[in-house]
Amino acid sequence: MQVRVLTDAPASVRAGALVLPVFAGADLSGVAKTLDGALSGAIADVLSSGEISGKPFELAFVHAKGQSYSRVLLVGLGEQEKFEPYLLARYAGAAVRYLGKRKVTDIAFVLPEGIRGSEAAAASFIVEGALTGTIDTTIYQNEPDRTIKVDQISIVADGFDRAAVERGAKRGEIIGEAVNNARRMALTPANDMTPTHMAARARELAQEADLEIEVLDEDRMRSLGMGSLLSVAQGTDQPATMTILTYKGDPSSKDVLAFVGKGITFDSGGISIKPAEKMHEMKYDMSGGAAVMSAMSAIGRLRPKINVIGIVPATENLPGPRATKPGDIVRAMNGKTIEVINTDAEGRLILADGLCYANKLGATNIVDAATLTGSCVIALGHAASAAMGNDEAFTQQFLAAAKPTGERYWEMPLYEDYSTAVRSEIADLSNSAGRPAGTLTAGAFLKAFVDKTPWIHLDVAGTAYLDNESPWQAKGPTGTPVRAFVALAEALSESDGKVHPNGAKATVKAGAGG
Ligand code: BES
Ligand code: MN
Ligand code: ZN
Repeated sequence: MQVRVLTDAPASVRAGALVLPVFAGADLSGVAKTLDGALSGAIADVLSSGEISGKPFELAFVHAKGQSYSRVLLVGLGEQEKFEPYLLARYAGAAVRYLGKRKVTDIAFVLPEGIRGSEAAAASFIVEGALTGTIDTTIYQNEPDRTIKVDQISIVADGFDRAAVERGAKRGEIIGEAVNNARRMALTPANDMTPTHMAARARELAQEADLEIEVLDEDRMRSLGMGSLLSVAQGTDQPATMTILTYKGDPSSKDVLAFVGKGITFDSGGISIKPAEKMHEMKYDMSGGAAVMSAMSAIGRLRPKINVIGIVPATENLPGPRATKPGDIVRAMNGKTIEVINTDAEGRLILADGLCYANKLGATNIVDAATLTGSCVIALGHAASAAMGNDEAFTQQFLAAAKPTGERYWEMPLYEDYSTAVRSEIADLSNSAGRPAGTLTAGAFLKAFVDKTPWIHLDVAGTAYLDNESPWQAKGPTGTPVRAFVALAEALSESDGKVHPNGAKATVKAGAGG
């Protein structure tokens, strides 16, 4: 998909469709009014007919006979007072999904009048949303149904700061491509997305984004003492991998932000096997790892002044003659022993060694992401990811950086009680404390492997993939938390890699997202 920025007057833009935002209850003004004049009142007619009232992502289509643009698509943006820049990603996504299905392949977006001064952020969201709206989920079909194919999008920047719009558009392209990469990896079934495949994909990303890469094999993991991760890999013939991507954007600084992502390429539950219903969804259990790799690729291309590493422990979790049995005791890289009560609580076992390794590599801040617990879906549904950690300032800074991206995170407490709950009678820790507060006992378990390093755990079990499509997004993987990871790296780069003592304010600035 080509992206271009135009400074032509909207009425003279050549495109298959011109997309126009409509706020609820607003009168025709500015660009809409000019176009309405050229179309002899066709836009006003659609609005007065009640066909569209500006509710979020309502769509109305007008054919534009005799104009340089063939059609106008009106897209509702909701109430003006509730407007947030990230809604422009959904605005663009809804438009490309509607038009793309109707074979309109050349789409021009009109910027809302009110965003003057933050046109870089607006352009970034529009391009991000247009890209994420077009992801092809039918790559395995011989006769693909309803593919959305858009060749070119344009941002009509007449009267806006062109340089800022271009900078934002480039950023949006990088983020949109990273989000789609994470989604494509998650969508790829487990027979094609093995731990080895994940590492191979990371090598390609490293090349494209100029990152360093190292892939640990099982022998190397054994010599490093990663007995917790290896215990999960025992049941499968697919070799486990641990991929480390390194971005050095600030060689003068010792600070290192580390992202650690769960890379379970298939989670059958192991000997504590899952029911068959919905088990196929467990190909998505590497979504956290895919997001880490993809965020690293975006960071490598955006080049903020900060050092970042991405660590992805990856394995299948299968039953088999060599598989870990409930009751087995294993030892993680930091020497802590773990009683494996339930082999289906495998994510925390591979993250334990991933977190230890982040510390070994000198991480000064760690964020992990994992489709970790079904209980997170019970608590928050699909509306938000859970966030918890051991350092309130860092957590607040993360939440402030993530908010403008449109990804939602809700902080949950890591009381000492949950750490008590994951103690074992026979080992240092137990990998399962049963049903009560399952998301938080999982978090408390991870906390035992980060030492004193400021750390945040994100449980994305309910948000990494969705069962339903929305006007702006296909069903399936969402790319969460790629956007938040990139936003955090950018926010930290602006405070010299240090956590702001009182948590940073969410900044809306040119070139950087929100
Ligand atoms: N990958 C699952 C969690 C999951 C479940 C993610 C449903 C998305 C949708 C994880 O490995 C798991 O099986 N967790 C167990 C933990 C329990 C055994 C302590 C769970 O949540 O049931
Ligand atoms: Mn599991
Ligand atoms: Zn799992």
